[in-house]
Amino acid sequence: MKIPSSQSEYLDAYKNSVANPENFWAEIAEDFTWKKKWSEVLQWDFHKAEVKWFIGGKLNITENCIDRHLPSRANQTAILWESNDTQEPSKKITYQELSDQVCKVANMLKAHGIKKGDRVCIYMPMVPEAAYAMLGCARIGAVHSLVFAGFSSGSLVDRINDSKCKLVLTADGAHRGDKKIELKTIVDAALQHCPSVEKVVVLERSHSKPAMKAGRDFWWHDEMKKVSTVCPAEVMDAEDLLFILYTSGSTGKPKGMVHTCGGYMVYVNYTFRTAFQYKEKQIYWCTADVGWITGHSYIVYGPLSAGATTTMFEGIPSWPDMGRFWQVIEKHKVNIFYTAPTAIRSLQAAPLSFVEKYNLSSLQVIGSVGEPINEEAWDWYHKNIGKGNCPVIDTWWQTENGGFMISPIANVTKLKPAFASLPLPGVQPAVMDEKGNELLENNIEGRLAIKFPWPSIARTIYGDHQRFKDTYFSTFPGKYFTGDGCKRDEDGYYRITGRVDDIIIVSGHNMGTAEVESAIDEHPAVAESAVVGFPHDIKGQGIYAFVICYQKPNDAEKLRAEIKETVSKIIGPIAKPDKIQFVSGLPKTRSGKIMRRILRKVAEGDTSNLGDITTLLDPNVVEEIKNGAL
Ligand code: PRX
Repeated sequence: MKIPSSQSEYLDAYKNSVANPENFWAEIAEDFTWKKKWSEVLQWDFHKAEVKWFIGGKLNITENCIDRHLPSRANQTAILWESNDTQEPSKKITYQELSDQVCKVANMLKAHGIKKGDRVCIYMPMVPEAAYAMLGCARIGAVHSLVFAGFSSGSLVDRINDSKCKLVLTADGAHRGDKKIELKTIVDAALQHCPSVEKVVVLERSHSKPAMKAGRDFWWHDEMKKVSTVCPAEVMDAEDLLFILYTSGSTGKPKGMVHTCGGYMVYVNYTFRTAFQYKEKQIYWCTADVGWITGHSYIVYGPLSAGATTTMFEGIPSWPDMGRFWQVIEKHKVNIFYTAPTAIRSLQAAPLSFVEKYNLSSLQVIGSVGEPINEEAWDWYHKNIGKGNCPVIDTWWQTENGGFMISPIANVTKLKPAFASLPLPGVQPAVMDEKGNELLENNIEGRLAIKFPWPSIARTIYGDHQRFKDTYFSTFPGKYFTGDGCKRDEDGYYRITGRVDDIIIVSGHNMGTAEVESAIDEHPAVAESAVVGFPHDIKGQGIYAFVICYQKPNDAEKLRAEIKETVSKIIGPIAKPDKIQFVSGLPKTRSGKIMRRILRKVAEGDTSNLGDITTLLDPNVVEEIKNGAL
């Protein structure tokens, strides 16, 4: 497979990918291990929200991530693991060990009745076993559904029940900085409401000795002793499900995005190698959690399918001090480092001495993902971490996309701070105006859509194809709508300006306002609430909640703390509102719709011009809200 590595190669690849997408992707796909070749490359209809790639092709992604590397790199490190605890030795798991462990997990799952097509929930800390769990599922064709270990039991219940998981893989606890999260206790609470779950396998990590329910709960180490290191790879159709991953929507419950085996594998491999220009033997580190799409595609499947050494880090950037990332880079001589703007901004706020203490000269490429990176953070990252000579690869993409969409190519694309820059080969963006017309010229601003399928586009929302169609394919018929706004400058470079719907990106994590509102409303004192985002120095966006109580609160501070706790319990700590303003009414139109634009302005601290408020049922509430702004 030819990875474009010069400007002219990129332009050629891009042109070719548009002129002849099927040949373009077929040529790339040829390079993988297939059990049977596809008979047709692509079938698609964006009006019906239907896409299929490599039709009739048979494969198993784990053979491509593991087995095919064994002849040449059995002893190469596949996963380099760094503990949360600085005193605990790092681990280097070779491709051979990865093979053994993945097959064992696969056999363990089989021994507990898991078959191809069954859903398995993975709720685990950032330990190598989380990757074994994912790949173990994939080995036997079970569909994994990871839930980020920071989510609460309520979130776990929703996700387990939506896809009717049969088994949960978890750990007794997780360490994050100086905090310990009792994962098994959270799972136990969730499982009171999850009738589909028959078995739970628990990894011992925090030694917190959780209660184990006889017949349902099993220790990982006991079960792994009973099984062999050999497990044949299940024959999977290119369009069989590989995993489900939930992402917040602007309305309703999280959406279970469905990714399938063939196209996903081809795309994450190609984009990993292209955007980062990955070279043999480089040490690669993506700081995301495997519970998010970034971890799926660019800690596990992308790098391992490319035979890379991928780093998994259990800890957090700020513990034991603000130099932790830089210390890990020095320790493992990391070459490619990929993190999020929220982390960059928080580390930028710390004294530079935390950076200067460490030798970062191994770095060659540094990346960013999850939210728009502001120019100041981009400059700081480029200058202080990349020392001015590592390209900043600002990758724009989404859970629904599976892999990078708009991104510079390292040492190929000329960089512009805060621009995700140009579409990768195979990606055909369209900037739309509010009326649904495509803006064809440059120097424009609009809504970002994609007009042609790429191999790793999500195929549906688990169990709800209509919602998939309505959410992504109805705004601009015939096109995939991203929900993001963007600018395209005079050079055709894209700059993502943020969400244009009711999703807030908090520290790089999507939060649906409706989801947070319904959690706030669970507090017995709350009658109604409305949530909007506001600019936050570190998190990018913070959560601002306007709350109506049944009675004027006696102790506002106490009630705020209680509401935050309620949200934390129902969704997870990441969804806690940063600011809560108690109000007696919300700005509603006569048809009962909340005029969020007004609330957004108040939350942003910009109340000079609130626009036309004459259509409001009671324009007086606006004055009160303005005066009480936090
Ligand atoms: O708004 C965009 C923002 O994150 C959203 C997707 O979030 P999620 O599905 O959680 O995936 C995050 C990791 C891929 C997008 O709609 N976003 C992601 N990357 C960028 C970004 N915004 C600007 N620049 C980026 N590089």
